[in-house]
Amino acid sequence: MKVLVTYFSQSGNTEKIAKAICEEAAKASDADLKKLEELTPDMVAEYDCIFMGSPLHSGSLAAPVKECLGVLKATSGQQMAGFITHMAPAYPDQDMDAFAEPMKAACKEKGIEFKGCFDCQGFLGEAMHALVQKKLNMDDDQWAEMIKQMTGRPNQEDVDKAKAFVKALFA
Ligand SMILES: Cc1cc2nc3c(=O)[nH]c(=O)nc-3n(C[C@H](O)[C@H](O)[C@H](O)COP(=O)(O)O)c2cc1C
Repeated sequence: MKVLVTYFSQSGNTEKIAKAICEEAAKASDADLKKLEELTPDMVAEYDCIFMGSPLHSGSLAAPVKECLGVLKATSGQQMAGFITHMAPAYPDQDMDAFAEPMKAACKEKGIEFKGCFDCQGFLGEAMHALVQKKLNMDDDQWAEMIKQMTGRPNQEDVDKAKAFVKALFA
């Protein structure tokens, strides 16, 4: 079985989970790790199982990931699983299941079996702090608490959970 772990990541959180997923997948299969930017639509057809990773951007998968889902070329018998990093519970009302919908829809359209989606919290890049603090209407004390809660994520526990997600898929 050939596994592809591909991801889009701006500040490294999704990349950290991608590496953990690839490390775990490599225990049972031939596994390649590729940034989404390195991927061509045809390349995906070479793999039996694709792990597709994205951060949440404005309540949705990142635009390059959605674009890739639209153009990727599938072959029969393929499987896909997703992984998402986000800054929830900063946004506690987000419906995590709903974010995987574009992946589910692409799989359905292309005849790929969708195997589920892992998600975990990630630290918000510094450049976004002022903007998000304002958007969430938080005072400096509330924001400091938020930063404390996000710091270090994804952490070892998140990495271990991502690996357990892979293990369960291949069990
Ligand atoms: C432009 C932008 C928009 C974001 N929008 C959301 C959002 O709607 N919900 C959320 O939970 N996190 C949001 N985040 C936080 C990221 O999803 C989170 O920090 C993620 O772990 C970043 O992953 P990366 O380091 O792989 O780029 C946003 C981040 C950026 C940069």
